[in-house]
Amino acid sequence: MGRENRISAVAVLPQGLENAGCEELQALGAHDVRPLRRAAAFQADMACLYRLHLQARLPFRLLRQMARFPCQGRDDLYDGIRRALNWERWLHPSMTFRVDVTGTAPGLNHSHYSALQVKNALVDQQRDLWGERSSVDLDDPDLSLQVHLGRGDAVLSLDGSGGSLHRRGYRAAMGAAPLKENLAAGLIRLTEWDGSTPLVDPCCGSGILLIEAALTALQQAPGLGRQFALEGWADFDQQLWQRECDRARTRQREPHTLPPIVGFEQDPDIADQARDNIRAAGLEACITIRTGDFLDQSLPESPGVLVCNPPYGHRIGDEQQLEALYRDLGTYAKQNAAGWQLWLLSGNRSLTGALRLKASKRIPVSNGGIDCRWLHYGLRAPSSEQAATP
Ligand SMILES: C[S@@+](CC[C@H](N)C(=O)[O-])C[C@H]1O[C@@H](n2cnc3c(N)ncnc32)[C@H](O)[C@@H]1O
Repeated sequence: MGRENRISAVAVLPQGLENAGCEELQALGAHDVRPLRRAAAFQADMACLYRLHLQARLPFRLLRQMARFPCQGRDDLYDGIRRALNWERWLHPSMTFRVDVTGTAPGLNHSHYSALQVKNALVDQQRDLWGERSSVDLDDPDLSLQVHLGRGDAVLSLDGSGGSLHRRGYRAAMGAAPLKENLAAGLIRLTEWDGSTPLVDPCCGSGILLIEAALTALQQAPGLGRQFALEGWADFDQQLWQRECDRARTRQREPHTLPPIVGFEQDPDIADQARDNIRAAGLEACITIRTGDFLDQSLPESPGVLVCNPPYGHRIGDEQQLEALYRDLGTYAKQNAAGWQLWLLSGNRSLTGALRLKASKRIPVSNGGIDCRWLHYGLRAPSSEQAATP
């Protein structure tokens, strides 16, 4: 990657998936990748930035850094923004925009107020250039700007996606307490499931873990067919974009190459919602949903991976009832899943004790602001099982 083509960028990631996110960015060609809090910084050329928008599964957003300038307060921010970019090229009054600000600087402690400063600088600049100004559009702007304040600097970035990348477009139905798609993809990545053994979710809800797992195994690019804000950038390279789209398309595997991917869901309405989502994702041939209590369901014969996001009491279910569910889950896993790997997302330590299994990995992640652990259990054959430890 030549120095002149180098772009500094940041991927905004779910908390706890920073390292997994770094690995994904690197695998897709990013350089100098370094984890930050809920984010990762990296370098890329334009082809790689396009590729990440099309193929990365873990980020919420990808921010392309356009300018950095010293900022000790309100006036610095206003003046710096006016000079930061060639606005004549990047923001014509016919375009709409939105501004988001993170971080603080002296006298700039409220992100809403800081964003107003940036907006004022932009529209004043436009009035000087054209005698007219852009409108702000918070929902579907043509240009989405992000300013980060901190350490005496302001960094101006462009958000290439427009809307959050976790919205893949297949999820019409919500189920109960659904996981965000990018978090689900990250959890699957952490299991190291390679798409060669069965994958089962015994409490599958709207099926997000299964869908993200299947899409990952099929190498289906989440961004193909989606409209991105970067397509409206002043330096958008249609040919390069097309090349990256073609490249993403040719990586895809055929659905018949996958092992069984199965979900159990006791609530018939939620099971139907999972089926709707699976259909919308084009995965009917890959994922089977069985309605019923997992206790009545059998697993595929050859060992694989169990993934599970059971209710944990913050949002649905009551703790005492849930204890019985976790006890059942532990017993079911020990009796039926010898030789399998179990990964369980827990937001409640006392409930996971009821599993009576000993976790070999505990990875902290945040699920919608709830502090959770992605727990790994290696399930041994009953004969070699040691005394249960909560
Ligand atoms: C937290 S939700 C799963 C959310 C899912 N990961 C998603 O993103 O949509 C837990 C699900 O487990 C289901 N469930 C609870 N007990 C069950 C049981 N014994 N057998 C099968 N499903 C069960 C609930 O109906 C609920 O839909």
